[in-house]
Amino acid sequence: MSNIISERVTSVHHWNDTLFSFKTSRDPSFRFANGHFTMIGLEREGRPLMRAYSIVSANYEDQLEFFSIKVPDGPLTSELQKIRVGDEILISRKPTGTLVADNVLPGRNLYLLSTGTGLAPFISIIKDPDIYDRFDKIILTHGVRYTSELAYQELIQQQLPEHEYFGEQVREKLIYYPTVTREAHHYQGRLTDLIDSGKLMSDIGLPPLNPEHDRFMLCGSPAMLKDSCALLDGLGFRETRKGIHGHYVIERAFVEH
Ligand code: A2P
Repeated sequence: MSNIISERVTSVHHWNDTLFSFKTSRDPSFRFANGHFTMIGLEREGRPLMRAYSIVSANYEDQLEFFSIKVPDGPLTSELQKIRVGDEILISRKPTGTLVADNVLPGRNLYLLSTGTGLAPFISIIKDPDIYDRFDKIILTHGVRYTSELAYQELIQQQLPEHEYFGEQVREKLIYYPTVTREAHHYQGRLTDLIDSGKLMSDIGLPPLNPEHDRFMLCGSPAMLKDSCALLDGLGFRETRKGIHGHYVIERAFVEH
């Protein structure tokens, strides 16, 4: 059996000039954990052109969803941004990744730190009812340059809190913290600075960070990951490495498409 399957686009949503999302059909045998990524792409000149994408949808949903940047001269996204309902998408059957709840030590608060399209795996995770059983609070942060990049706000702020099965847990436990760096917004500044100064925790009414209780999953640019890891390490947090569970896990947001 080939490792690449072909699915059909079922919907496309353009958030702004630089970001779009789309959904595809899902082969019932395609399995993944919430937070995983897989290779997806298009056939070009008879060959698959594939890049890594986090899966936005939860593993119990009957469609797959992806969130993408539009890179004007990106080999894949310059084509992918033109997709329409009914088009064919290639998807690898081998999803993988580190942003999985089992990969961090148990704790009280789970901070999901994302910038840009790094939000994608965390949408899958906040749709996972299991995450609300594991943690008292789940803090979904999204750092972007401009307000128009704050994708999925309606899902996060309206649909999930009203979810028929776990909406009550979402209302009690999910905290959304969007922050913008290059124009005016309610919360402003880089996530690293907001954590370093303690402003983020005080804004949401949680205590200063403590390795005993706080866990992190990070997804963003290489620079954001580097600075965030240095910050967390300096505060006494340890990354999960070589199968030894720590306080945080990281994954690069896949942007150079
Ligand atoms: P800034 O506007 O100050 O560069 P990008 O689109 O470049 O990935 O950036 C997405 C968001 O991440 C922006 O708000 C950006 O802030 C922020 N950012 C960029 N580099 C870092 C970093 N090293 N640490 C934390 N946040 C960062």
